Amino acid sequence: MEILVHRQLASHLQPHPRDEAALGFGDIYTDHVFKLDYYDGAWRNPRIEPFGPLLLSPAAMVLHYSQTIFEGLKCYRHPDGRLALFRPRDNFTRFNSSASRMAIPNLDEAFLLQALKELLKIDGDWTPAHPGSSLYIRPTVIATEAHLGVRPAKEYLFFIIMGPVGPYYPGGFAPIKIYVENFYSRSAPGGLGAIKAGASYAGSLLATELAAQKGYTQLLWLDSVSHKLVEEVGSMNMFFVLDGTIVTAPLTGTILPGVTRACVLAVARDLGLRAEERPLTIEEILAAQKSGALGESFGSGTAAVISPVGKLCYQNEEIVIGDGGVGPITQKIYDELVGVQYGTRPDIRGWVEFVS
Ligand code: COI
Repeated sequence: MEILVHRQLASHLQPHPRDEAALGFGDIYTDHVFKLDYYDGAWRNPRIEPFGPLLLSPAAMVLHYSQTIFEGLKCYRHPDGRLALFRPRDNFTRFNSSASRMAIPNLDEAFLLQALKELLKIDGDWTPAHPGSSLYIRPTVIATEAHLGVRPAKEYLFFIIMGPVGPYYPGGFAPIKIYVENFYSRSAPGGLGAIKAGASYAGSLLATELAAQKGYTQLLWLDSVSHKLVEEVGSMNMFFVLDGTIVTAPLTGTILPGVTRACVLAVARDLGLRAEERPLTIEEILAAQKSGALGESFGSGTAAVISPVGKLCYQNEEIVIGDGGVGPITQKIYDELVGVQYGTRPDIRGWVEFVS
């Protein structure tokens, strides 16, 4: 399906990164951006424009009341050179559920996927081929209406920007150290924890900085009511391997329904492992570590894919998970997931969508 998108191509193209092996995360952008406006009750004006600054009123509602949502997905270069999006439809479905929660008008998911493919026809050659690298895609909506009363905006801008990325954590697929946060909360029942709202990430910054000052890469968030239940790790879903069973917190509304989380559960079950979604407390984790039942732990997300956790600090006590390295189950799940993403293993689950 060809969709009608007005194209204004950049007159000057940026040089692509020279060393794909040295790519970091989130600093380089491709030459073009896809945009849509919302006003008078409808999404309008699909267009591709050169990447550049936005013109916004200082009274734009997003700047005051944070009415904004985003998604993150990736495009991979397969060995035959083809460009492969990974589960893009799931990201656009979640985008709309984020929009609904933030009183932002929904968008046509099939149209968005087509629009992304149009953008990739122009800028897809930015997709790096180096192992561990990919093209990160960031669909976003912001409330652009200039108005200071507190209510949903009547005008919005949707855009998709993209950029080549390497590993999210500079160490790549290597164990990280986690601080269990006992005071600050990431989300609350009825709050924003199950969607990708910029506001949730802003609220996580201070606690994450304080943990970084103590030498920890990320936080393990506990529930905001009892401060006992394990929820997420940084901006990732959290998994533990207890007596060989993979356990992660259930989707009760305070946890992001991660696309990678769903992949981990599916791959684990396909590997013949038991995988459970159930509440688990920090005490259970500590007791399991003492008894030897806690074999492995890792976070999952689009940006980092799988991030092994080597150490946890809770109330000034640091515990080592397994032998502090990458556990065998974590490695197996990582190998399968990354193999499918990069096209070195068969896509038996229909997760890959080629751009053509
Ligand atoms: C993800 O990995 O899914 C994230 O949300 C991280 C992103 C905010 C950089």
